[in-house]
Amino acid sequence: MAVVTCIEDLKRMHRRRAPKMFFDYCESGSYTEQTFRDNCSDFASLRLRQKVAVDMSGRSTASEMIGQPVAMPVALAPVGMTGMQAADGEIKAARAAEAFGVPYTLSTMSICSVEDVAAHTTKPFWFQLYVMKDEEFVDGMIARAKAANCSALVLTLDLQILGQRHKDLKNGLSAPPKLTLPVMLDLATKWGWGLEMLKTKRRSFGNIVGHAKGVGDTSSLMSWTSEQFDPHLDWGKIARIRDQWGGKLILKGILDADDARLAADFGADAIVVSNHGGRQLDGAVSAIRMLPSIVAAVGDRIEVHMDSGIRSGQDVLKALALGAKGTYIGRSYIYGLGAMGQEGVRQALEVIRKELDISMALCGEKNVKALRRENLLVPRGFEGDWA
Ligand SMILES: Cc1cc2nc3c(=O)[nH]c(=O)nc-3n(C[C@H](O)[C@H](O)[C@H](O)COP(=O)(O)O)c2cc1C
Repeated sequence: MAVVTCIEDLKRMHRRRAPKMFFDYCESGSYTEQTFRDNCSDFASLRLRQKVAVDMSGRSTASEMIGQPVAMPVALAPVGMTGMQAADGEIKAARAAEAFGVPYTLSTMSICSVEDVAAHTTKPFWFQLYVMKDEEFVDGMIARAKAANCSALVLTLDLQILGQRHKDLKNGLSAPPKLTLPVMLDLATKWGWGLEMLKTKRRSFGNIVGHAKGVGDTSSLMSWTSEQFDPHLDWGKIARIRDQWGGKLILKGILDADDARLAADFGADAIVVSNHGGRQLDGAVSAIRMLPSIVAAVGDRIEVHMDSGIRSGQDVLKALALGAKGTYIGRSYIYGLGAMGQEGVRQALEVIRKELDISMALCGEKNVKALRRENLLVPRGFEGDWA
């Protein structure tokens, strides 16, 4: 088996194994992809501050996110169509997260349903909700997440309207894939993926098919979902969802200090500073650059998490040092899943844990919870002097 040294190795393997349509779906941002690129390059512009002659024994990456113990403060982000990167992908990712001791977040737009994932795991996972116009569907989804014993609701606020990804249009993205000539030629070289897919029945949007009105057949599903996102989402609707859910609530997709203040006033358990991995507002500032001002605005009132651009344990360290209490990875674990299923997700998590542990030690820190701004060298003007 190939030696995996870093997330980039898993990405190469994912590209080779999964159909082009699904690899591209993962590896893309909206429009010019400027924000998608900035998310990673801005992490790279931060430097770690080396410290020597410090006792490095007894290190710990353990922490808590929304009061839940975690082996490291890195959750798996909600990712739509995970079950198209590898057969039964959501179940595999959830099992890997459970074994590792980090939270798994199931997307509304998953292939395996919330009931499927609950049936194949033993501990509660988190559920991500997109707010749709069809209130009956939303209410039903909340009830199903409760019945599946999900321990947090992650409400995504930055996708009420879809940012365009050129590659998805050109590739004719769909689940399951439509067998056009280019798709068939591509699948002919992806037989490992295809054989696994033939063995599973889970090939469409499991949370939606059979539960939402007017989508009995899967071919109408893509158009149903893009028409269904509710452009009227506002704080009033969020309050209705909070009251209906009644449990831990995480608001995902905050990228502005004023919005963060509203979220803190609202009384959620955490916010996720995120630009959806550069898939929505192209031209928005990277999440890591926005993090310090948001932590300064609300860090004493609400738990601040972040995602978008994390590809290593060093990146996790940087986010924590700038004040995040927790982080999420999206593509980093999807590469692992697409490369080698559940084992690939485990390897992605292990790569990140080891990088975090070693980098922390070389920064002279034993405890992940003690990371702070002094562990970094931040270029002057990093946050940007925007008018
Ligand atoms: C292929 C893909 C699908 C995604 N689907 C969802 C989704 O269904 N719901 C959601 O809230 N976020 C979704 N996201 C955004 C992720 O939750 C997360 O914010 C993002 O991946 C973080 O950036 P990173 O991939 O650079 O780590 C998706 C991201 C990717 C890459």
